[in-house]
Amino acid sequence: MTTDEQTKPGKVTFVGAGPGAADLLTFRAARAIAEADVVIWAASLVQEEVLQHAREGAEILDSSLVPMEDVLAVYERAAQDGTRVARIHSGDPSLWGAVQEQLERCRTLGLETEIIPGVSSFSAVAALAQRELTIPEVAQSVILTRLGGGKTPMPPGEEVREFACHGTTMAIFLSAARSKQLVEELLEGGYAPETPVVVAYQATWPEELLLTCTVATLEATVKEHRLWKHTLFLVGPALGAHGTRSHLYHPGHFHTFRKADRTARRQLRAVGANEAGSGAAGGGEASAAADSGHGHA
Ligand SMILES: C[S@@+](CC[C@H](N)C(=O)[O-])C[C@H]1O[C@@H](n2cnc3c(N)ncnc32)[C@H](O)[C@@H]1O
Repeated sequence: MTTDEQTKPGKVTFVGAGPGAADLLTFRAARAIAEADVVIWAASLVQEEVLQHAREGAEILDSSLVPMEDVLAVYERAAQDGTRVARIHSGDPSLWGAVQEQLERCRTLGLETEIIPGVSSFSAVAALAQRELTIPEVAQSVILTRLGGGKTPMPPGEEVREFACHGTTMAIFLSAARSKQLVEELLEGGYAPETPVVVAYQATWPEELLLTCTVATLEATVKEHRLWKHTLFLVGPALGAHGTRSHLYHPGHFHTFRKADRTARRQLRAVGANEAGSGAAGGGEASAAADSGHGHA
């Protein structure tokens, strides 16, 4: 190691590696792995091919085989000898990744840190199911949550039954082992028994299982397939919706980058007036115009 390298501060990059499949890694994630002296990954959460980006001679540590103390020891070493560490997390590191405590430790050690976002399992499952989670006038919000009652208690106001009362789309992580409780809370919150559900086990892995059911049949589906981990649920009426049309892409809608077609605009106005008259929720010209230039990425 040269004197220059010795004086460089070490760096820890928290890399979102997606739901499992190595080709769902971003270019930035692959680059961070390639530049690392030490790569920390969990064989149970990410496929081994992600390691093909690691440089020859890089130290590889499987975090599923060691306690957090061993990972922290790698960070301490990085602070002393200026090495670069890529810490691979499944999905997106901002969700249930225990990243915050690691960041704080790194900062205490004087290490440089970076977070690289990843494809979260909820968006991977929506893609596999070929479903949009936000459908005009059906669901305009997505709640990412987990069931309480296990080792991790839920903060007040965050029980699944409380979120369920919104009736919108929910992505429920870390909850397959208690499917009976999940169904009870979804029903207590107000979802109809026939509300569509997507159940995904090991999405994007070779053993992937993608099932559709309803809130009423969720528990039986989970038990039939013996799912208790690596499973994600998408719940809500948007998962069964069809025949809707977003005003944003309607030829009668205008925004910063596009002019409206006059005839189509009159039609859209008429629809908006009818909806307002009938008390229908959302949509309408006013809300479509208010959204102009936003939300059409
Ligand atoms: C500790 S959390 C990590 C979530 C991750 N940070 C993300 O953005 O997807 C683990 C949970 O995420 C969900 N999950 C992660 N990867 C998955 C996959 N490939 N298929 C299905 N569910 C997955 C499951 O609910 C699992 O219990």
